[in-house]
Amino acid sequence: AFQNTHFITSAPNIGKLPPDEGIEIAFAGRSNAGKSSALNTLTRQKNLARTSKTPGRTQLINVFEVAPDKRLIDLPGYGFAKVPMAVKEKWQQSLSEYLQQRDSLQGLVVMMDIRHPFRETDQELIYWAVASEIPVLVLLTKADKLKPGQRKSTLLQAREAALAFQGDVTVEAFSSLKKFGVSETERVLNR
Ligand code: GTP
Ligand code: MG
Repeated sequence: AFQNTHFITSAPNIGKLPPDEGIEIAFAGRSNAGKSSALNTLTRQKNLARTSKTPGRTQLINVFEVAPDKRLIDLPGYGFAKVPMAVKEKWQQSLSEYLQQRDSLQGLVVMMDIRHPFRETDQELIYWAVASEIPVLVLLTKADKLKPGQRKSTLLQAREAALAFQGDVTVEAFSSLKKFGVSETERVLNR
C-alpha cells in the first residue's frame, strides 16, 4: 500500500514543511529505535529513509508522499543521541513544534525497542497523543531479538500496559530484519 512512496523534503523546522493539508502519519520514538528502517520496510524501499548504527541519524523532519493527500513523516528521535547539545536542542524543538502545531497529523506510530518498551518519554508522547485525540500505533521494534515465546508474552504484556492510556492505542510486534508485523502494521495504518 505504501510502495509508491517518494521523498519530498527534509525540513529543519515546521515552517519549511509542505502545506498543512491532507493526512500525515508520523513515526516517532527514541533514537535508534528503528524508525527509519521501519519506514523502508513498509514502503519496500531499501534506502528511502537513511538508517544508521549511530543514534541521532535523523535530525530533520523527513517528508515522504504516499499519495497526493497522504504523507509519512520520519521524525528525529528523542532521548540519547551522540551529537552536540546545541544541535540536539534544535531538533528536539522541531519535533515538539511538529507534534503540537501540525493539523494534518492524524496518526502517530511510536516505535520502541521490544527489549525496552514504554520508557518515560514514550509514555509522555502516548499520553499527549491520546489527549490530542490522535490514534497511536505502538510498534515493538527489533522483535527478532527475542525468541518466539518471549516475543509473544512481551506483546501481550505491552497490550495490557497500553490499556492504561485509555485511548486509541494499538500495539504490534515488528521486525524490519525478519519482516514481522508488516501486514498488521499496514492494516492499522490504512484504517
Ligand atoms: P535515529 O534516526 O537515529 O533516531 O534512529 P532510527 O530510529 O531511525 O533507527 P534506524 O532505523 O536507523 O535503526 C537503528 C539501528 O537498529 C540500525 O543499526 C538498524 O540496522 C537496527 N535495526 C533496525 N530495525 C531492526 C530490526 O528489525 N531488527 C534488528 N535486529 N535491528 C534493527
Ligand atoms: Mg532515523
